[in-house]
Amino acid sequence: MKTMLNVALPKGRLGEKVYDMFEKAGYPCPSIKESGRKLIFENEERGVRYFWVKPSDVAIYVERGAADIGVAGKDILLEYEPDVYELLDLNTGKCRMAVAAKKDFRDDTGRTLRVATKFSNIAGNYYLSKGRDIDIIHLNGSIEIAPILGLSDVIVDIVETGATLRENDLVVIDTIVPISARLIANKAGYKFKSREIDGLLRELNAQTEAEND
Ligand code: PRP
Repeated sequence: MKTMLNVALPKGRLGEKVYDMFEKAGYPCPSIKESGRKLIFENEERGVRYFWVKPSDVAIYVERGAADIGVAGKDILLEYEPDVYELLDLNTGKCRMAVAAKKDFRDDTGRTLRVATKFSNIAGNYYLSKGRDIDIIHLNGSIEIAPILGLSDVIVDIVETGATLRENDLVVIDTIVPISARLIANKAGYKFKSREIDGLLRELNAQTEAEND
């Protein structure tokens, strides 16, 4: 029987773009394009099985071996530090992790800084490296509201186009790290399926290089 490569893809626009890259790389599964609520798609002949999962859950599936490989944002990898191999920067899904605040914000270093974020680990490490005392307020979304309502002084969040900040009268005060989508692999799975994964890696690498030219 053919070896099946189990792939966790992030549900949404990024996942669809990444699927197209996998298809071009020799792992097509046309049924994935059919509309519906199905989450698992298989092309037995080509030896691939795709799962649509929540973007922030991809690394969990891969770390625990439910998927051999997957695509996760660098933000998720930095935040949760999963024990996986990071094989390739796919050069898509580009954005940045930034600190933002109201336009009139002035940092009073004598006081603990209140930081609202979904990325507590990233924010904690960033301020630790600066030796700044902070109070982290962990939120699950709509982070931009926090400084407006006085819940926090600053936010640490993803900025892509900058539209969300602009429309809520916030400005970037520092960029922490650039973010993009990464191909990740389960450590044991990579050993067992290295031939398939390395072949795919070569094809994807060629595509990301061609995009850079
Ligand atoms: C992300 C992020 C910002 C927004 C940035 O939110 O948290 O709110 O995108 O994009 P922009 O710079 O192009 O405006 P997402 O849509 O992932 O939803 P969330 O509220 O669940 O974080």
